[in-house]
Amino acid sequence: MFHLSETTYASKHEHYADLAAQARGLLAGERDLIANAANFSALVFNSLPDLNWAGFYLFDGTELVVGPFQGKPACVRIALGRGVCGTAARTRQIQLVRDVNAFADHIACDAASQSEIVVPLTKPDGSLLGVWDVDSPLMGRFDEDDREGMATLCAVFMASLGC
Ligand code: SME
Repeated sequence: MFHLSETTYASKHEHYADLAAQARGLLAGERDLIANAANFSALVFNSLPDLNWAGFYLFDGTELVVGPFQGKPACVRIALGRGVCGTAARTRQIQLVRDVNAFADHIACDAASQSEIVVPLTKPDGSLLGVWDVDSPLMGRFDEDDREGMATLCAVFMASLGC
């Protein structure tokens, strides 16, 4: 059982499916990037347990710049290839880091972060929109269910923008 506030889910998979449906409803009919990114980060941050940061870094054509997020103030600019976010952006691969202290180039914006998952956001033409970054104060907070669930959530987010 995966329990969160008043709702009990049979599995993380079920929880992510419910969250994806909520995100679809929340973002429906709106295509503004900042509005949808802000509401998406607020929804996820307040719906999943044990997170200390959830938000976007947007690609400005040169580097990643912090976008809408929930959590403590964060580093503003991250070069492609730097840290977990920059690695996700450069490789276009989801980065699932069970222990950020073991990730050589991790950028510690919030010392509380122990694990994180970063999903690259690619437009249909192959260009980079940015990355979705979620941090946890727990070691090993994210697993393969989270990888799949976050990928699904990001697909909902990109679809809301018409991507
Ligand atoms: N941990 C990230 C930096 C961004 S903060 O976590 C919000 C990284 O190494 O890319």
